[in-house]
Amino acid sequence: MARGTDEREEVEQLRGGRDRFIDSDGNRAWQGGLVIGQIKILCNNYMDLFPCACAGSSQPLGGIDLAQSKFGPSIWADTFLFLTTEVLLLSDHKAKEASWWWTGKEASSCWLSAKKKKKKEDMPGIRGPSDYSQEPSRDPCLKINAKASPSFLLFFASFLIHRSAIDSIFGEPFNAEPPRSALVQSYVTPVPLFYKRNHGPIPIIDHIDNYSVSVTGLIDNPTKLFIKDIKSLPKYNVTATLQCAGNRRTAMSKVRNVRGVGWDVSAIGNAVWGGAKLADVLELLGVPKLTSSTSLGGRHVEFVSVDRCKEENGGPYKASIPLNQATNPEADVLLAYEMNGEILNRDHGYPLRLVVPGVIGARSVKWLDSINVIAEECQGFFMQKDYKMFPPSVNWDNIDWSTRRPQMDFPVQSAICSLEDVQMVKPGKVSIKGYAVSGGGRGIERVDISMDGGKSWVEASRTQEPEKDYISEHSSSDKWAWVLFEATIDVSQSTTEVIAKAVDSAANVQPENVESVWNLRGVLNTSWHRVLLRLGHSNL
Ligand code: MTE
Repeated sequence: MARGTDEREEVEQLRGGRDRFIDSDGNRAWQGGLVIGQIKILCNNYMDLFPCACAGSSQPLGGIDLAQSKFGPSIWADTFLFLTTEVLLLSDHKAKEASWWWTGKEASSCWLSAKKKKKKEDMPGIRGPSDYSQEPSRDPCLKINAKASPSFLLFFASFLIHRSAIDSIFGEPFNAEPPRSALVQSYVTPVPLFYKRNHGPIPIIDHIDNYSVSVTGLIDNPTKLFIKDIKSLPKYNVTATLQCAGNRRTAMSKVRNVRGVGWDVSAIGNAVWGGAKLADVLELLGVPKLTSSTSLGGRHVEFVSVDRCKEENGGPYKASIPLNQATNPEADVLLAYEMNGEILNRDHGYPLRLVVPGVIGARSVKWLDSINVIAEECQGFFMQKDYKMFPPSVNWDNIDWSTRRPQMDFPVQSAICSLEDVQMVKPGKVSIKGYAVSGGGRGIERVDISMDGGKSWVEASRTQEPEKDYISEHSSSDKWAWVLFEATIDVSQSTTEVIAKAVDSAANVQPENVESVWNLRGVLNTSWHRVLLRLGHSNL
């Protein structure tokens, strides 16, 4: 059974060209068809080489269907060896730990070892690489954000190769957001467009059946949980908005310099997360629901990842939440293995991540390795030396990290996404679209739009589902999710500033000016969102 020409072309392109499939005497060409049968790859790494076929699945993860043989089955063994060698060569280190499953008419269901095959029991379930050579493929429309302005070398390299290639060579974590306008096309953000925030290279799954999370610490029954154990618990789908604390940092850095990845307004996304409730997992291990302290003195739950981060001196990313939140089923904290109905992809934490609804994204640890019940909150870098909100008076000379608590819930936020910061429009009606969201499960009570600097306001309409009224705090509303808002304004002046501000169900309002919330790390810029409209030529 041969795959379509397009797919074969794609595979060939990914592998560096057709000529690499021709052996020294020129007979064994890919073109023309050589082998009956099929090679399936049982290695997650292969998602990179066969994104079309693999798309996050954990079973045979991809494959090449080869065309009907013109040589006949007698040369199969020979051919297989040739192909194996070729594939090993072409995929170099990626195949070192891969196993190959070959099925064909006569050689059906037999395991054949590739040259450097490892036994599957020896494979770690998951590992955190130390470089960026095995990153997944990503949607080209994402805007890649850098920590600092590119160095001299990066600047020149950027003329020669694509930015994602530069990052895999020079070693920067992949941080990217979708264009504003793409973000408000749908209530649920498509996975490829969902912002990606990483602090190290993306972990690699070697063998999903060997992957487990150890649950340890101040509990009576420490154990190891495999994916099948987690999947055996009731599955919940929770629609929740994940927002990076650094969302809208770029605007804050215009007031005064801040440190951190320069995000526009799209370090945020709304997804349907599928998984087991953490409260159920902990109950399975003997920690009852709504517990604040275990008999051994555990009061926090720490989540440790597999990825290696510079900030942790090469150690894993980690964070914690209080035990009473972890054991509260109403808090909807999930050990998620699905995103928008699909298996999580590598960027978003495959095979298992934490999702803490209503809390800054930094606490939703991806690629879980262990869960520890501990006495004090996690002492990791991202809990103690980052993601804290300081007053504008604190600078890098007088900062004392211990004076502030780790940020958890995010405050009320909104942004206009249908317009850029400075946008040319034609005179007349202009449609304004954006998102509004608040942390802690507080709904959005109102979104106001002003065209006169905040002297007068009109209320925007809000939606979560089409044809259904959104009512803040109503049981039919997704309490952890954003609302999309819409308003139409009439533009006649040569320049008009349009402002959006949201009010949440506790009547919390976004602050008017970014200056009042400026902080040296540039987190939580929730100030009124402003865009400038200029009359002129436009296709809006
Ligand atoms: N988990 C791990 N293991 N490593 C990380 O770098 N980044 C955190 C969080 N969890 C991170 C992590 C931050 S800062 C954010 S905002 C979210 O993941 C981003 O999740 P996403 O990439 O799925 O959008």
